[in-house]
Amino acid sequence: MALPQSFLDELIYRCDIVEVISRYVSLKRSGSGYVGLCPFHNEKTPSFSVSGDKQFFHCFGCGEGGNVITFIMKEENLPFIDAVKLLADMYGMTVPEDEGGNDAARRHRERLHALNKDAARFFHSCLMAPEGRGALEYLLGRGLSKKTITSFGLGYAPAEWDRLCRAMMDKGYSKYELESAWLARKNKSGGVYDAFRDRVMFPIIDIRGNVIAFGGRVMEGDGPKYLNSGDTPVFNKSRNLFAMNLAKKSKSGRLILAEGYMDVIALHQAGFDYAVASLGTALTPDQTKLMGRYAKEAVICYDSDAAGQKAAQKAIDLLNRAGLEVKVLRIPGAKDPDEFIKKNGREAFQLLLDKPQSDSEYRLNVIKNKYVLEIDAQKVEYLKEAAAYIASVQSPVEREILTHTVAKEADITPAAMSAEVKRAFTAALRKEKKKTENEALRPIRAVQPKETGLRYSNPRSAVCEEKLLAIVLDDHELLQKAGTMIAPSEFSSDFLARIYEKALYMEENGHEIRPAAIMAGLEDAEVRHLTQVLSAKVASQDAERELADYVAVIKAEQAKQQAEGDDRLLEVLSRKRERKG
Ligand code: UTP
Ligand code: MN
Repeated sequence: MALPQSFLDELIYRCDIVEVISRYVSLKRSGSGYVGLCPFHNEKTPSFSVSGDKQFFHCFGCGEGGNVITFIMKEENLPFIDAVKLLADMYGMTVPEDEGGNDAARRHRERLHALNKDAARFFHSCLMAPEGRGALEYLLGRGLSKKTITSFGLGYAPAEWDRLCRAMMDKGYSKYELESAWLARKNKSGGVYDAFRDRVMFPIIDIRGNVIAFGGRVMEGDGPKYLNSGDTPVFNKSRNLFAMNLAKKSKSGRLILAEGYMDVIALHQAGFDYAVASLGTALTPDQTKLMGRYAKEAVICYDSDAAGQKAAQKAIDLLNRAGLEVKVLRIPGAKDPDEFIKKNGREAFQLLLDKPQSDSEYRLNVIKNKYVLEIDAQKVEYLKEAAAYIASVQSPVEREILTHTVAKEADITPAAMSAEVKRAFTAALRKEKKKTENEALRPIRAVQPKETGLRYSNPRSAVCEEKLLAIVLDDHELLQKAGTMIAPSEFSSDFLARIYEKALYMEENGHEIRPAAIMAGLEDAEVRHLTQVLSAKVASQDAERELADYVAVIKAEQAKQQAEGDDRLLEVLSRKRERKG
């Protein structure tokens, strides 16, 4: 939905960013702005800064930045429009009604929700019909009860080419809608056929209860084990979790994170109604944010194979960052939680849950398993690596406990281990310092935006364009002056030129120039980069002089580029002539 710029301007103007962010982050005054601990990455010293004058935030640690809307999108894990609505609510503003074109998009999404729901009903009825007997037997054979099958709305996609398509078209859905929902594929003659055939169907339901996608498992025969809906206007696989609609109602305050659909279903059936799974891909920050909204603690319960354990390792960090306390559960003697429960029963799983390892115990264990402690040389290596890990743990209390545990295990004194940890700590510090120094020595590389889409073709010119923007966006007289000296088309970077053009336009039309308003129409990555550019500004004694210097470099670089272009052209022409001659 496109909102009128005037409304966005008004919203940004009324929602004071310092006030809004203070609801989430404890801010302290510092210089002309505020600082606090960044909510978007783990840190001990504040590098998250908020400027009330410019109405934006920027983190020098992780590079996140933007205006008040960007902040809410990230913090609350909401799409743009929902973030705007939340802010409007906070400040008693009314979001203008949808405009025509986007109303159509909304209606389309509603149709897809209805279609998905009807498709789920269709698949379920097929499972219960004679044609679904094989599928039903398969599910019952895997230990699922009829009740579980119904509560997850499991189904069966018949082994024909167009059963679903026909049933849905009878209900009035179009080919386009079927294809757009990823339920059908187009064939060469413009007809459609079912995307899922002869598969057991697992509907994926969002937290509002809408059926948004499907996973389909083969029972036998070929093809991938699971086929999953691709992204559609109502489904983004990296933002949803399987069974989150059920788990969010659990009173446990916990979530079990498993790998597979079948694991989650088996866990729910055994009474662990707070199990979820990511949708066949690596866990994403959006998913962990979502988890963080419903629980305080996450128990990772991935498959016991190497791939599962490696994925667990990665999940720990992501979940921690979303503010969740993390436990890692290892499943002895079974490949996954589904198999474990089938073998040992629900009480056995409950026992595992009651005594899961903490994240750090788990990591130390992983380190220990790499070495044979009976061999002295390996034991020394183990102690060094363990010390390095312990040194990186934030809580001093936890460091102490871990130091003692390892010392006891390795049969050395706690004091000796403690000394080892201290050494590791100093070494890490030294390394960090060196890294910072190295970075300072690479100014041109450092200036390149992190997002590859924004790479500068001429960094030398782009640096000056950035600096020019940083000074003129703050000072409308200087902006006017810049307008008479250099045009946006003379910039080397299209992105920076667009910003400059927008600022000049606002200036000419008497709008107040606020960086936050300029950011309103930009892409996420662009906002992040721009805030970084503007935050890096250092107050200057003689801004006009500075402006003139930047303009001179930009123009010189442009001239150089043009000359090179001309040279290339001349060369091409002369080669052509040679060939002819
Ligand atoms: P698993 O192979 O562990 O599946 O993959 P599972 O759920 O335990 O199923 P069973 O017990 O073998 O029947 C874990 C998850 O990875 C995704 C699915 O989401 C699956 O649940 N996956 C797996 C796919 O998307 N495609 C595949 O081909 C395989
Ligand atoms: Mn599995």
